[in-house]
Amino acid sequence: MAETDVDLVILGGGSGGYACALRAAELGMSVVLIDKAELGGTCLHRGCIPTKALLHAGEVADLARESEQFGVQASLHGVDAAGVRKYQEGVVSRLYKGLQGLVKGRGIQFVTGEGRLVSPTAVQVGDTTYTGKHVVLATGSAARTLPGLEVDGDRVLFSDHALKLDRVPASVIVLGGGVIGVEFASIWKSFGSDVTIVEALPHLVPLEDESSCKLLERAFRRRGITFKLGARFAGVEHTDQGVRVSLEDGETLEAELLLVAVGRGPVSADLGYEEVGVAVDRGFVKVDAYCQTNVPTISAVGDLIATPQLAHVGFGEGILVAERLAGLPVVPIDYAGVPRVTYSEPEVASVGLTEAQAVEKYGAEQVKTLTFDLAANGKSQILKTAGAVKLVQEKDGPVVGVHMVGSRVGELLAEAQLIYNWEALPSEVAQLIHAHPTQSEAVGEAHLALAGKPLHTHS
Ligand code: NAI
Repeated sequence: MAETDVDLVILGGGSGGYACALRAAELGMSVVLIDKAELGGTCLHRGCIPTKALLHAGEVADLARESEQFGVQASLHGVDAAGVRKYQEGVVSRLYKGLQGLVKGRGIQFVTGEGRLVSPTAVQVGDTTYTGKHVVLATGSAARTLPGLEVDGDRVLFSDHALKLDRVPASVIVLGGGVIGVEFASIWKSFGSDVTIVEALPHLVPLEDESSCKLLERAFRRRGITFKLGARFAGVEHTDQGVRVSLEDGETLEAELLLVAVGRGPVSADLGYEEVGVAVDRGFVKVDAYCQTNVPTISAVGDLIATPQLAHVGFGEGILVAERLAGLPVVPIDYAGVPRVTYSEPEVASVGLTEAQAVEKYGAEQVKTLTFDLAANGKSQILKTAGAVKLVQEKDGPVVGVHMVGSRVGELLAEAQLIYNWEALPSEVAQLIHAHPTQSEAVGEAHLALAGKPLHTHS
């Protein structure tokens, strides 16, 4: 049995694992990075990147379909699923090559194979044992289904299957109105499908500020996307044309396909974690604020731990672990300060606390909010998008939450996260002149209004 000794052995080459590997190598550590599939993981191959490419193709289709409202006479002849897939795969493959080059360039040994934790310092792949001073677990997450709901990859799909679909379906039922459900609903509607979302909670993207949920729902209604809220799934059966979904209230819905988007769960079973003594809670590896498990030589990052399941959280946690192991000073991540974007049309973007969370934390008397409607923002009018920027402020104190809805508002989060994370006062942001005409002005104007000196707002 071959043995390889290094500073760091990382199991899982997705966002969390490879970010940790890159930073550790930069800091002079010898690193082995193990993955059973391609370097880059879910985000690059089956998640963030390919879905955003599909959303962009959807935007192009929408622009062609609606070009007359801009005085341009284009027409949409159709969406060629194979062509879209080629574009999507081209984007992924360029980024994949770039990432492989980075990993190689930093001297990281990438091993393809199924790894298993066999001791507090070792991972076994086939006949080879890789031993490190430390081990980082980064095996990520996988789509979950409901009891009795079989995902066959043909008519009942997870997002992985939907990404590989060879056609634009005539109709789709999307089970789950969270991030994945809403993004795929948006894509398919743009491509011309009939879409119905079934969500058990009272709102789409239910973790967002309620005002954002309502703005998204209004926009989806205008786009002709149907959604059933507070609706619980009861069962599905195959029909000649596709699927028949029944809800607990007795209603039935029919469509060509059913997408199951009811959440993702950690991949931690049968990997040796518990045998080696790593504490696991409902499948999530338990860690402290520094991503350290109960076993001193083992850390864990990314979707495998119970922090927000976002690629950029994985990047941040991977870097934090590499720096901690290298002896650099590190501070725990403030997860409320992590930006969140749902890339549908329109986008939903937020950072910090929702109004409800702020009221819970500070008390209703101590919370002030302000909503700036994109109707008063020149660039948003040019783009013909509707939505708003909502600020949540601790009374007489800093801005503790920023919530936005509208086309392209995800790009405005860069400023919003600085505002939140630097605990900026509305008056301080109000002093910053924003470029005109940009959508970023809406962020500036919201702060002007909150600071008591509104410009394009009725006071
Ligand atoms: P999610 O947890 O965001 O949403 C699942 C939704 O399904 C919830 O709203 C839930 O109430 C609903 N649901 C659960 N059981 C149901 C039932 N029986 N009937 C009807 N509705 C039911 O999970 P999702 O959308 O699958 O995404 C998984 C993870 O991936 C999330 O943590 C998400 O943040 C992440 N992700 C992030 C993206 C982004 O940042 N843009 C894009 C895609 C995924």
